[in-house]
This record gives sequence, C-alpha cells and structure tokens, in this order.
Amino acid sequence: MIEAILNELEALKHKFDEQIVAVNSANAVEALRIQYLARKGEFPQYFKKLGEVPAEVRPQLGQKLNELRDYLEAALNAKKELFGQVTRGPKVDLTLSGIPRRLGTRHPLLKTLDEIKSIFIAMGFSVESGPLAENDYYNFEALNIPRNHPSRDMQDTLYLSDPMREEGETYLLRTHTSPVQVRTMLKQKPPIRIIAPGRVFRKDNLDATHSPVFHQIEGLYVDEGVTMGDLKGVLLAYARKLLGRDIKVRFRPSYFPFTEPSAELDVWFPAKNRWMELLGCGMVNPAVFDMLGIDSEKYTGFAFGMGIERVAMTKYAIDDIRYFYDNDVRFLQQF
Ligand code: DAH
Repeated sequence: MIEAILNELEALKHKFDEQIVAVNSANAVEALRIQYLARKGEFPQYFKKLGEVPAEVRPQLGQKLNELRDYLEAALNAKKELFGQVTRGPKVDLTLSGIPRRLGTRHPLLKTLDEIKSIFIAMGFSVESGPLAENDYYNFEALNIPRNHPSRDMQDTLYLSDPMREEGETYLLRTHTSPVQVRTMLKQKPPIRIIAPGRVFRKDNLDATHSPVFHQIEGLYVDEGVTMGDLKGVLLAYARKLLGRDIKVRFRPSYFPFTEPSAELDVWFPAKNRWMELLGCGMVNPAVFDMLGIDSEKYTGFAFGMGIERVAMTKYAIDDIRYFYDNDVRFLQQF
C-alpha cells in the first residue's frame, strides 16, 4: 500500500513539474498553487493517508510528504517572485495622464528678504533677531528717542495692555528693527557686523502704501575706525547688487535720534522719472554707545534700516502693499 502511495506522489510531482515550467504570469502561479496546495487541492489529501498506513511506514511517508510540500512551495515562490503580485480588480492604465498638482512658489517678500540677506552675508554680516513684543527701553529709550518724540505717541505705536507690564516697564509691539541693535551691543563687544530682519508694527490703517504689520531689515557695523566712507561704500555696493550696476543713487541728509549724522539713500527710477527712498542710515550716535557701555572714544559705527515691502514693490513693480498679505494665488504665482 505504501508503494502505491509513493508512486502516486511521484506522479503528482512529475505532473506539477510539467505545469510549472509553462507558467508565465502571476495569475498562473496563483492558479497552480490553488490546484496543488489549497485545502481541497491535489496534495493535502495525502496527509490523511498517514492515518491509514501501518505505523512502521508512517515516518517514511511523513518525511516524503514534508519534502514534497517544501518542494512545491519553493517552486511556486520562486515563480511568484519572478512575476510579482497577482493583480485583482480593475486594471490600472498607467498611460493615462495624472491630475497635475499645483506647486507653491516662494512668497515675493521672502524672496526679496533672502536676496537682501545674501548680499550682506557675502560682505561679512551675520544675522540676528529679537522679540516682537519689546520693552520701551530697547525700542525707544536706548536709541536716544526722547520721551516726547512723536513716534512714541499712542497714535503711532501699539502699546501692550497692563498685564504685560512689569514694575515701571512699558511693553509694546516693536515699531522698527532698531532694538536689535541695542540688544546686540549689550551682549557683544565690537567688532560687530550684523543685520536683523523681522516683522514690525505701527498703528497705521491698511491702504495701498501702509500696513499695520510690515517688515524691516536693520544693519549695524561697529569697529575701530569705521567712517562715513565705509557706510557709503557698503550701501552703494548693496544697492548695485540689488538693483543693477547702473542704478543711480544719492545720499540725502536726514535725522534719526540714534545716528549722527543721518542720511537717507534714494535710488532713481527712470520708469517713474523720480527718486525713491530706499533706506535710512547714519553714523551711530555716540550718545547711544555711551548708554550701552561701548567706548565712544575708541569705536565708531554705522547703522541702516529699510522696509522690505518697499524694496519688493520697487523690484517687482507691485503698486499695492495689500497684495503681499491677501495670499491670492494669482498674485503669488507670478514670482
Ligand atoms: N528705525 C528707522 C525707521 O524705522 C530706520 C533706520 C534709520 C534704522 C536709520 C537705522 C538707521 O538703523 O541708522 O524708520
């Protein structure tokens, strides 16, 4: 009886071998697996015969069955690997065009800021930052802005409410990036060469040229022997890099409490046939150095500050500041 079973198993293996060489798809592999190895397939029924044969040949048959099962599984697995997974359900047409994804672009303000930053970084400046909610001391007092100065007015500055105030201190939303100058000079000895970009706040109503929130970038250079010539050289190099070598500029005298002398840098716009103000600047007022414990006999420096919106508007010919904050993709896509 055992002989007959072993012969049948041999025949089964033979038949399997003939079928498997003809297999040429994942689906055909699966069909063959079902034919031989599924619960009701041709092979598993032989395990039932283990109970029918005499006990002394049972191990022999058992071993044979295990070997054959391993053989069938290995052969099927090898083919499966060759043809991949069985496909079920509707076929996918890989030649159909997809649904295009809309790609975002960098915001024009960020692009402008990155460009400005990289120009100054190339000249050896490093990037600093400071808090948006500032102490009155850093925003005004230490910058030599007197108590009765109009920019301190409630009409211009957004003051923070009482819970934010500590004993004798007034907090506000910074009105410019200049307080970062103060913070830097308090924590770092010269030579200092920094820029400080960031958001600033003024009590302005939103219109084509004003926004209560906008962005500035500040610059400060302090060392022994820094002159007005250095200021002009650095800022001229900056304007040319930003707007082109042929740009026409002029320095116009101005006034800021924290610089002396002070100036504004204008650039000529042929398209509009007029000068446009690009930035404010000046030599750091010795009174500021004295307040911050920097030796004003030994050190000199220059500072500058400019609005980033204004630079972006000039560079990209944008005529309304509100476009920056609307997040209308038709606008943003153009950059
Ligand atoms: N803080 C000034 C403003 O907001 C801009 C400015 C002018 C900054 C001259 C400076 C400077 O550092 O030297 O209008």
